[in-house]
Amino acid sequence: MERSPIIAPSILASDFSRLAEEVHAIEGSADWVHVDVMDNHFVPNLTLGLPIVQSLRKATTIPFDVHLMITDPQRWAPGYAEAGAYNVTFHAEACDDPVALAKTLRAAGSKAGLAIDRDTPVEPYLELLPYVDTILIMTIKAGFGGQAFMPEMLGKVRDVRRRISVNELEVRVEVDGGIAADTIEQAAEAGADAFVAGTAVYGAADPAEAIRNLRALAAAKMGVA
Ligand code: DX5
Ligand code: ZN
Repeated sequence: MERSPIIAPSILASDFSRLAEEVHAIEGSADWVHVDVMDNHFVPNLTLGLPIVQSLRKATTIPFDVHLMITDPQRWAPGYAEAGAYNVTFHAEACDDPVALAKTLRAAGSKAGLAIDRDTPVEPYLELLPYVDTILIMTIKAGFGGQAFMPEMLGKVRDVRRRISVNELEVRVEVDGGIAADTIEQAAEAGADAFVAGTAVYGAADPAEAIRNLRALAAAKMGVA
């Protein structure tokens, strides 16, 4: 099935004192807004949590792609679905029953995503693909924006894409970390169809133009241009 690319700017690279305006700046050009929740435990960094997501949700209609880099997602993830997130992604490394949590998230009204960090092989999780809506392959080590894209992660993207094709599954393959104009094509070629971009969007003089450019580059490689 042909799918057009999803471009999901990460507000981690935006100005946190002007969050609503920063989200408004990508309305109409972005597909999702990517919200990085970090708990200073699963990753060393600390960002934002549920109260901010609840408030920001009211300020925009753009679908929220919540990326939980937290321990104990079973406890916290459903709250983000209840807050109206479109997709809630939790980390495989932090969850001992991903299938159960995915079910809970879907019952709470969101899509369910499974994230695979840099040092985690994807092979053991391929059999879980029928139970999730999104699989997020980190193309950096989770925790900080602005890191260099790691092309060696694309083998995981290819493995996931192959399994999705063979089993004719409806799962988005998302890449996160170092996605920019000079890296998005290789990720699209490997089989990604959803692209998180923090620095490449919010570091640009014109975020909407940066999104359009990323979309065109990805779409051309996906054969949907
Ligand atoms: C890092 C976050 C990313 C981050 C990406 O752990 O998951 O979403 O915002 O930032 P860039 O696009 O700058 O690599
Ligand atoms: Zn992220």
